[in-house]
Amino acid sequence: MIRTAEAGDGPAIAALEQEAFGSDAWSDALVSEGLAGKVPGALYLVAEDDASPAVVGYAAASLFADVAELQRIAVATGLRRTGIASALLTRVEAEARLRYSEQLLLEVRENNPAALAFYARRGFTEVDRRPRYYADGTTAIVLARRLTDEEDEA
Ligand SMILES: CC(C)(COP(=O)(O)OP(=O)(O)OC[C@H]1O[C@@H](n2cnc3c(N)ncnc32)[C@H](O)[C@@H]1OP(=O)(O)O)[C@@H](O)C(=O)NCCC(=O)NCCS
Repeated sequence: MIRTAEAGDGPAIAALEQEAFGSDAWSDALVSEGLAGKVPGALYLVAEDDASPAVVGYAAASLFADVAELQRIAVATGLRRTGIASALLTRVEAEARLRYSEQLLLEVRENNPAALAFYARRGFTEVDRRPRYYADGTTAIVLARRLTDEEDEA
């Protein structure tokens, strides 16, 4: 089940951040600020396991008019390839359309084949590259997907 994140989801989201992003992880304080509604345009969603109320994935997006940006999406290691990120992304896209966003943008490390395959499957295409974008010198690939097309994946 996908739902809007609440303040109490902070520790679970922070743990998933560590698991998925390591030294690039957002701080607990940053996650808490987003969940507290202190970041304009911020949308935090979590995926709960159907069998238990545990948070097994989350997505964070920045939604303003015209262009929306997916900032984070991550799923617990043992539950990847089960459609959780797809369900999260579908909901992010729906929320962005509600705000009349025409495009969803994101940045991904060029050395992250799982994420690149996931986004390609979801119809994202490369629009830019930012060399040495990350602190360790890795290039960022900027991907975009139009939200005005009617067809969409479930
Ligand atoms: C990228 C990530 C979010 C995908 O989450 P997920 O829940 O496993 O994705 P889904 O199960 O919804 O995958 C949907 C489709 O995307 C593609 N895909 C996803 N992961 C893939 C992988 N490792 N290799 C190849 N294709 C992949 C497949 O087409 C998949 O469909 P299939 O399983 O029927 O073949 C997950 O790997 C993750 O949390 N990675 C660490 C965090 C991260 O890198 N986030 C993105 C930062 S920009």
